[in-house]
Amino acid sequence: MATLISSRLASVIVLATCFILARGQLSTPCFYDKVCPKALATIKKVVEEAIAQEPRMGASLLRLHFHDCFVNGCDGSILLDDTPTFIGEKNAAPNMNSARGFEVVDRIKAAVNEECHGNIVSCADILAVAARDSVVALGGPSYQVQLGRRDARTASQLAANQSIPAPTLDFSGLISNFQSHGLSLQDLVVLSGAHTLGFARCTNFRSRLYNETRTLDFYQANSLKAICPISGGDDNLAPLDGSPTRFDTVYYNWLIQKKGLLHSDQQLFKGDGSGADGLVKFYSSYPSAFSNDFGVSMLKMGSMKPLTGSQGEIRMNCRMVNYY
Ligand code: HEM
Ligand SMILES: *[C@@H]1O[C@H](CO)[C@@H](O)[C@H](O)[C@H]1NC(C)=O
Ligand SMILES: *[C@@H]1O[C@H](CO)[C@@H](O)[C@H](O)[C@H]1NC(C)=O
Repeated sequence: MATLISSRLASVIVLATCFILARGQLSTPCFYDKVCPKALATIKKVVEEAIAQEPRMGASLLRLHFHDCFVNGCDGSILLDDTPTFIGEKNAAPNMNSARGFEVVDRIKAAVNEECHGNIVSCADILAVAARDSVVALGGPSYQVQLGRRDARTASQLAANQSIPAPTLDFSGLISNFQSHGLSLQDLVVLSGAHTLGFARCTNFRSRLYNETRTLDFYQANSLKAICPISGGDDNLAPLDGSPTRFDTVYYNWLIQKKGLLHSDQQLFKGDGSGADGLVKFYSSYPSAFSNDFGVSMLKMGSMKPLTGSQGEIRMNCRMVNYY
């Protein structure tokens, strides 16, 4: 009896969130419930398998959603291979030799196409859900993902070059980049907390080791120099925080200790009380606030300029548009 009541209660809560969460143009997390009830469970299963095989994959999938959303909205454009008619985003400066996880997205798409007996779930929605499932699989907070994004029929290398923030940016550049996407200072600090997961290549933090000694912890710099020599080893990896496969607040602790790996990371904490110093201290001290706010900012990022209704298409294969 108790189980019956609690399962009834649970479904009432789920139903309630289905309606309450409708916001902007996207639909509720229940978007696929009628047409393909197991769609989300199928995505989750493939994500979990991929992360069990390689924990870093969670970081890579989270970043794919970010790099998708920051280029003309969350429309799956990052997944398109180059074609004779356009150069895609995969080889844009921020993605080349860096963005990864495309094979996992292919596996997810194949699995949902099979489960749904057809082409029902968009590639853009897959990225949004896979990002959330990755965060959860690595110990982070869960949050409801709004759905109903449709897939772009084109991609833009130029837009990817211009819209995704570079790790060389200063605080003011980061702020204006995020503002151009409708995101706030708080979103910047919270979403940068994604760097609690994953790795960066030497080429992206070398100048920090040899040119920014004032803002980088001495011992940290020395140990990183072993991974990242002054020349060569461009693709050698270092973790973005001390626990790159656990979603926690060590990233913020590191910023306070002047151990931020990227120039852009350390720009969020300068130690003089200016800029984002207060927010970094706050999230470092209150992990549960970070957990909560991360979900809120991910919802905001995930609802940037979606294609909905009859715009775009549902791609059959995430790498290519359905027909030319
Ligand atoms: C605030 C501006 C940001 C800058 C300048 C930035 C830059 C970078 C760079 C340079 C890397 C390393 C790439 C490489 O060396 O191959 C990286 C990795 C990563 N970024 Fe960001 N990022 C930013 C914000 C974000 C946001 C908002 C998210 C997600 C919500 C995110 C998620 C990640 C993750 C998870 C990785 C590790 C990926 C992996 O290990 O495969 N980043 N970022
Ligand atoms: C994007 O950046 C890459 C690397 O810097 C460059 O080779 C490419 O030409 C740029 N693409 C466009 C369309 O500007
Ligand atoms: C350090 O900065 C100088 C001057 O801006 C630049 O020429 C040099 O390439 C930088 N060194 C590294 C390792 O990034």
